[in-house]
Amino acid sequence: MSMTTEEKCSLLVGAAGEGSGVPNVAGYTRAIPRVGIPQTVLSDGPAGLRLSPTRPGSSQTFYCTGFPVGTLTACSWDPALVEEMTKTMGSEVREYGVDVLLAPGMNIHRNPLCGRNFEYFSEDPLLSGRMAAAYVRGVQSQGVGCSVKHFAANNQETNRLENDSRISKRALREMYLKNFEIAVKEGHPWTVMSSYNKLNGEYTQQSHRLLTTILRNEWGFEGLVMTDWGCKDSTVKAVKAGNDLLMPGNQRERDRLMAAVESGAISQTELDRAVRRVLEYIVKTPRYRNYPYSNRPDLQAHAQVARRTAAESIVLLHNENGTLPLSGSERVALYGISSVDFFGVGTGSGFVHTSHVANMQEALVAAGFTLDQDLADYYRHLYALQQDKERMEASSIDKRHRPEPEVTVRTIERQAQANDVAVIVLGRIAGEGADRVFHDDFQLTAPERELIQNVSLVYHKVGKRVVVVLNIVGVVETASWKDLVDAIILPWTPGQEGPHAVADIIKGKVNPSGKLPMTFPVNYMDHPSAANFPYRWDMSGKKGERRGVDFTPYEEDIWVGYRHFITHDVAVSYPFGYGLSYTTFDYGQPKIKAGQDGFTATITVTNTGHMPGREVVQLYVSAPAGGLEKPSRELKAFAKSKTLMPGESEKLTLTVTAYDLASFNESTTSWETAAGTYVLLFGASSTDIRQTAHYKVKKAATWPIAE
Ligand code: BGC
Repeated sequence: MSMTTEEKCSLLVGAAGEGSGVPNVAGYTRAIPRVGIPQTVLSDGPAGLRLSPTRPGSSQTFYCTGFPVGTLTACSWDPALVEEMTKTMGSEVREYGVDVLLAPGMNIHRNPLCGRNFEYFSEDPLLSGRMAAAYVRGVQSQGVGCSVKHFAANNQETNRLENDSRISKRALREMYLKNFEIAVKEGHPWTVMSSYNKLNGEYTQQSHRLLTTILRNEWGFEGLVMTDWGCKDSTVKAVKAGNDLLMPGNQRERDRLMAAVESGAISQTELDRAVRRVLEYIVKTPRYRNYPYSNRPDLQAHAQVARRTAAESIVLLHNENGTLPLSGSERVALYGISSVDFFGVGTGSGFVHTSHVANMQEALVAAGFTLDQDLADYYRHLYALQQDKERMEASSIDKRHRPEPEVTVRTIERQAQANDVAVIVLGRIAGEGADRVFHDDFQLTAPERELIQNVSLVYHKVGKRVVVVLNIVGVVETASWKDLVDAIILPWTPGQEGPHAVADIIKGKVNPSGKLPMTFPVNYMDHPSAANFPYRWDMSGKKGERRGVDFTPYEEDIWVGYRHFITHDVAVSYPFGYGLSYTTFDYGQPKIKAGQDGFTATITVTNTGHMPGREVVQLYVSAPAGGLEKPSRELKAFAKSKTLMPGESEKLTLTVTAYDLASFNESTTSWETAAGTYVLLFGASSTDIRQTAHYKVKKAATWPIAE
């Protein structure tokens, strides 16, 4: 049965506001009952499914599991763990009757203040791409789809719908497309979401080069491309560029599309191509198969997966004199308003309506610790007051963090006598629509600083330890205060069960094995992108454009994150790839085996400490002189050991192809791998190199790109 042009056009435009089945989700495609095409359902987002928890006329609740955010899962450096987690997430998506999860978010952490960094993975394209691919494989193994987003160069929230990312061809290829290239080739997502922003003057949504030449022709993507939630003024350009589905959709877009097809501005072939892709997507969906979804996913079991994933990903930043783990029998004085108001996930489309979010008070009690009850009551009481105030003033509170209540030095002195250890929880929240800021956000607030200073001073005087838990959505300043305290745990926003995972780390039930997927700088301004991030915008553009708001020059080029800090020898607070363990590891001599295409390295890691633990081996490569100017080292592979018992070893294998070693040469428009000897650095972080080897490329290789 053939479809009419009108039916075809309505298939390419989402059915906003006309959804049935699963109400109030981000989007729907349009049903065409005459030809048996059902409506499909698309919903956010990266840390779990975002559904409205209640429905008119139903007494059932539709809570979803809040999983750890993208940034925390990237800290695991363990694609298999992420895939396990997203299998669970995917089953929840399916059982709630949703066909596509609008995730993962995978833009590069170009700058620490991007308000959506927590949804994204890393400052490194390889880590970001591998994590995204694993995420997609897990979700899609459950028979539902993913939409990797936001394609591409969508690295800030300020003026997110219009900002023009101005990027060199090389930086675009190596930093901002490479992660998507890996995700597409290794994850095979059903769909990709084009972003809102412009790229070198053109909306990404309208870029044929991006959505067709690169994504489909070069990388072989065969799925569907949808717009982010708002098609720009030219429906025609969006379809011609390679979007198959305009989301969330409206009547005007359908009319425009019809008119464009009738006038020939969009050819029948172009229309049919997009229709075919939408149909190919629809026939894969559970909805098409009439899957009898239960609306009853096993939320309890899923909560355990969220907890385990968080615990396996949390980073231990600091641990003086073996402060952690604690034994479990300690009396704990728990400070910080975030100890009662813990942020499980971020805001905006990255939010998840969970039935509950655990807090650190209940988690430490559940783990067997005894809390200082007066202090616990104090924070609970103040939090209740803050909530009342918020309700009365209709949410006047600063959304980035809660005001930190004062605890006087005299009170702290009393508590230091009565307790064995102090734990301070600091929180930060952010989300879609706004970037973070420098003052009182990247920097600690004055009350937070005072709390750390006073607690540390008083507890240290009586020989007791201080632990800080960073419940944050993005990088914060740590250099000025980290040495005041004895231990720092970084769980980011670890999902609804996060505090229990933190307690698992504090107690040593889980030995931390997470490593940073980005750099913690000493100063914010040490990031070269800081010169061109909204925080420091000026009116220097053409026609009075605001730099950082209307356009953002990516002047740091390929020198993003550790590529800059290491090559240009800028001191950092914590380097990329860094994270501590309660045990120690020895790295054996690596063996390099050259193959037809690149090489395979094997290296044996041995647990030389006293606790079972896991290690992430990171392979950085230094290219020979003579080719393009390159960062002094770049991550090219990584592998994580299983849990090794004390004394136990494991041989890990890391594979690097010739193409993986290539850089993008703008003058020849090709990827190039120079001949010569490459130095292979096997590290426990980007700066803690444990073994070195060499690999010789006998003949230069190039991969020309037809642009
Ligand atoms: C966000 C996307 C999200 C979509 C649907 C957009 O504003 O940028 O990430 O998937 O809304 O909620």
